[in-house]
Amino acid sequence: MQIKSIKVDNFKSLVDFELPLAKFNCLIGLNGSGKSTVLQFFDFLSQQFRGDLSDWLKKRQWNPSDINSKLTRKQNIKFEISFACHSRNSMFGYNAELTWFVSFNRQALRCTSELIHIVETNGIMTEKSSLLKVHDGGYFVFDRKNDRTILSGDIPFDYQGSVLAQIKESQLPEELLELKRFFFDLHALDLLAPELLRQKTRNADNSLGLGGEKLSAFLHELGESKRVVIQEKLARIYPQFNDINISSLRSGWKSLAVQEQFGETIIKTEARHVADGFLRMLAVCAQLSKDQSFLLLDEIENGINPELIEFLVDDLVEAAPQVLITTHSPMVLNYLEDEVAIEGIIYIYKTPLGATQAKRLFDIPRMREKLTVMGAGEVYEDTLLTQLNAEILGEA
Ligand SMILES: Nc1ncnc2c1ncn2[C@@H]1O[C@H](COP(=O)(O)OP(=O)(O)OP(=O)(O)O)[C@@H](O)[C@H]1O
Ligand SMILES: [Mg+2]
Repeated sequence: MQIKSIKVDNFKSLVDFELPLAKFNCLIGLNGSGKSTVLQFFDFLSQQFRGDLSDWLKKRQWNPSDINSKLTRKQNIKFEISFACHSRNSMFGYNAELTWFVSFNRQALRCTSELIHIVETNGIMTEKSSLLKVHDGGYFVFDRKNDRTILSGDIPFDYQGSVLAQIKESQLPEELLELKRFFFDLHALDLLAPELLRQKTRNADNSLGLGGEKLSAFLHELGESKRVVIQEKLARIYPQFNDINISSLRSGWKSLAVQEQFGETIIKTEARHVADGFLRMLAVCAQLSKDQSFLLLDEIENGINPELIEFLVDDLVEAAPQVLITTHSPMVLNYLEDEVAIEGIIYIYKTPLGATQAKRLFDIPRMREKLTVMGAGEVYEDTLLTQLNAEILGEA
């Protein structure tokens, strides 16, 4: 399953916002254009399937009113997420697209209206089935494989987020189960911060935490074999590095230390003295070692040596999950093959009224022309972004 596109209306600066997605995506754009907001929106999506939106807001120190756009007077946040997914008729050349349409009410912190349908097509035949409908406090869940209604009537429980957060997995048809798991396995690391990566933690429960504060427990839970793979990877790029130590304290807290070798001397450095860039790289490698559906990272180049960026970018382009990163660095873009750059580099900008918009950089004719003679990063360096805004808006 892969997200093909999202449409969002009324989430912070995302007003009438559309974003096409490839397997690897990189958002670029001026400060304040809305790149981090896009990552926050994906985290918001993932939380719909966990349910507890109040807790999500609390962890971010946000009020419910913060998620609505200040640019509109609309109450509800509407979005439409389209996926390319497996078709049960794939052997006959069918493609399937699943779409989730939602209206989220910020007072109730709930998707008050939801519709999920799947369309299968092979160029000649098109078949459409509704898998979920939520409306006016009622719901309907349909299993198209066995052609039967699984649930219908008034929703008998109180909930936040999507109704799918509360329905038992055993009651869901396979496509809805796949959707739920996709969002459970989506990780938006938009707040990774070195001071948080240094913290001791007890349990990670499969997540680095909003700002990476669970890194020590996360590494502990990964187990020895995955830790060795990460160690080998880091040793290739940091020659002095030789080991990660996770100690489990009697109280259950896990603490992280790093071992380095300089000549004959081996030193062990506790997390609170480990370099910022190394900790970020360690966190990204640790996250990449897990099975996941979608990984989102903000300002990927932060604190990382220029010569290590190529290594990181290659890893992310080749990673199994769908990936979305943001960057201000032309160097990151220069390491992308042209076909990855054409599909995946998205320019994020704001309209004069403050709404965030997205456009594939190389769908802009002048940019595409430059790409024939320059690398993607050189095109970016050679372009005045403020002028590009005017160019796109003039075109519109
Ligand atoms: N509720 C809201 N309604 C409308 N616009 C908002 C809302 N909340 C934030 N914004 C806008 O979004 C901007 C922040 O966007 P964001 O942090 O996503 O930018 P960015 O592209 O990540 O920038 P940078 O490159 O500096 O990290 C704010 O400056 C403000 O203009
Ligand atoms: Mg940002």
